[in-house]
Amino acid sequence: MKISRVWGVLCLGFALGNLSAIAARTSESDLQAWIDWEKGITTQNMFYNISPNGAAPGAVVASPSRDNPNYFKHWVRDASLTMNLVISYYENTQDQNLKNTYYQRMMDFTDFSRRNQLTDNPSGGPGSNGLGEPLFMPDGSPFNQGWGRPQNDGPALRAMVLTRWAFVLLSQGQESLVRQKFYDGQLPANTVIKADLEYVSHHLDESCFDLWEEVRGYHFYTRMVQRKALLDGARLADRLGDGGAANWYRQEASVLEAQINTHWDNSRKVILTTLGRDGGMDYKNSGLDASTILALMHGDTGDGFFPVYDDRAMATAVTIANIFKSEFPINGRGPGIGIGRYPEDQYDGNGAHPNGGNPWVLLTNGFGEYYYRVSKGLSSKGNIAFNDTNVAFFRDLAPANASSIVPGKVIHSNDTLFNSILGAAWQRGDDYLMRTRFHTGSDGGFAEQMNRDSGFMQGAKNLTWSDASFLVAAWERSGF
Ligand code: NOJ
Ligand code: NOJ
Repeated sequence: MKISRVWGVLCLGFALGNLSAIAARTSESDLQAWIDWEKGITTQNMFYNISPNGAAPGAVVASPSRDNPNYFKHWVRDASLTMNLVISYYENTQDQNLKNTYYQRMMDFTDFSRRNQLTDNPSGGPGSNGLGEPLFMPDGSPFNQGWGRPQNDGPALRAMVLTRWAFVLLSQGQESLVRQKFYDGQLPANTVIKADLEYVSHHLDESCFDLWEEVRGYHFYTRMVQRKALLDGARLADRLGDGGAANWYRQEASVLEAQINTHWDNSRKVILTTLGRDGGMDYKNSGLDASTILALMHGDTGDGFFPVYDDRAMATAVTIANIFKSEFPINGRGPGIGIGRYPEDQYDGNGAHPNGGNPWVLLTNGFGEYYYRVSKGLSSKGNIAFNDTNVAFFRDLAPANASSIVPGKVIHSNDTLFNSILGAAWQRGDDYLMRTRFHTGSDGGFAEQMNRDSGFMQGAKNLTWSDASFLVAAWERSGF
């Protein structure tokens, strides 16, 4: 009974997957055409979730889905990652009306964020731990149900996007606005960025829930974005004459660096997602999690600390991709690999599912972005030194050359192998986007997940973060 049902779903999914592949998909060569079409849809869907009807100005809902699951709420993490793209839209448009709209969205988000900081919530109040609160109701009121809190990546991501925006305003000579609303050195903090930086820098030693809202402990992702928030914030503090604070933020960033390095498990050659678990879910035994790859991109400060092509990162990426390749039935057909959160995942977009989790749109796109960035990063570095940690990654990219990929050997930009590897990494990026395309319906909408058996979109529809992840990957590939 059970077996035939599963088999039926598989056959149906296979048939539909192929049919739709023939009907709606174009060949691999016109990936760019699909991307251009999809960008339009995704942009529209994403902006629809920023200050939508039924929410306060500045709120960014995670999805328009109001029930099963109810994602019509403002998650600090999703919102910050999304608003970071609004700055890119602002910077890239010549149309003054659009520019004004984007400007207004950013200022509304700034004000809404400050309101969140000042709102008493289940994590605490403005002067205590309230800044670690992961989500708010769309009208800005607190979300009073039990939840995995605090989540300390949130205030870091919020500080990062607002700092980037503050620098845009400064470049336009709006220093008094920045000092009034964004960053004032005064303590206790009375501006949005300062408050987040103070919170981040004074709570590094406390465990918190991870970005998936499930495990309490110390997380690679959280630490990487905390580090970037502090270093970006230190630059702003310096620019505004708050040098003492800048030194403190930099000092705490270096404390984080030492902690981040301890996530590397040299015997297994992987970055462990969580250390010191002290609460929440307890069955993530592999320690592997695709968020370690997101961390490298969201936490990238461009200063050479854990760049995307760090050997430890590449080793982790290939291990994770290969696990999901065999874990998810859909990965047996079609291009690329659908990437899930972590191998033991049970969340199917609505609740726990005994068959386990699914591939996620934002992670599949995120791996696409990752491979594009590795290709570019290695290209500007100009050489590859093979070693025990990274050979698995490169052999996976260029299996036909596996015997030339040996520890101890160094190749340079004039070597054929160097260029084949760069090309293969770029192609791998395309493979991930083609995987997403394979499961995207004719309306172009991205949900949170893709069913592991049938490939159909599943979970919260039009997930804002899924849209953002696609746009970022597409920009990485072919510009804004
Ligand atoms: C909702 C959370 O957002 C999600 O990450 C989690 O997996 C489920 N709850 C189950 O705990
Ligand atoms: C569940 C995800 O695990 C979490 O990271 C996200 O913030 C929420 N859904 C809202 O999209």
